[in-house]
Amino acid sequence: VKITIIDREGIAHEVDAPTDMAMNLMEVVRSYELAPEGTIGVCGGMAMCASCQCYVLSDHDLPEKQDDEEAMLSEAFDVKENSRLGCQIQITPAMDGLKVELAPES
Ligand code: FES
Repeated sequence: VKITIIDREGIAHEVDAPTDMAMNLMEVVRSYELAPEGTIGVCGGMAMCASCQCYVLSDHDLPEKQDDEEAMLSEAFDVKENSRLGCQIQITPAMDGLKVELAPES
């Protein structure tokens, strides 16, 4: 699927994200090196660091937040209504055209 990711410098990147590799959004950002090593995915995708926080800009129906994601976002910085943890969003075919912006480095 095509996903647009706006990096922390405000530059938009349209990338191809595989739906058959059980990849999550944080891993997609890392695989395209859209954020410097060590500034995203710090906890390895355990919903324990919020370094993968992003803002969902498109109107996609994403899976509901689980409790651990809610809990982490409740103590993270720069959280908005549309904040999600990228590591908790597994890429599925329904996400074609998704547009997200990386939250500032925390
Ligand atoms: Fe740590 Fe997502 S990578 S919360």
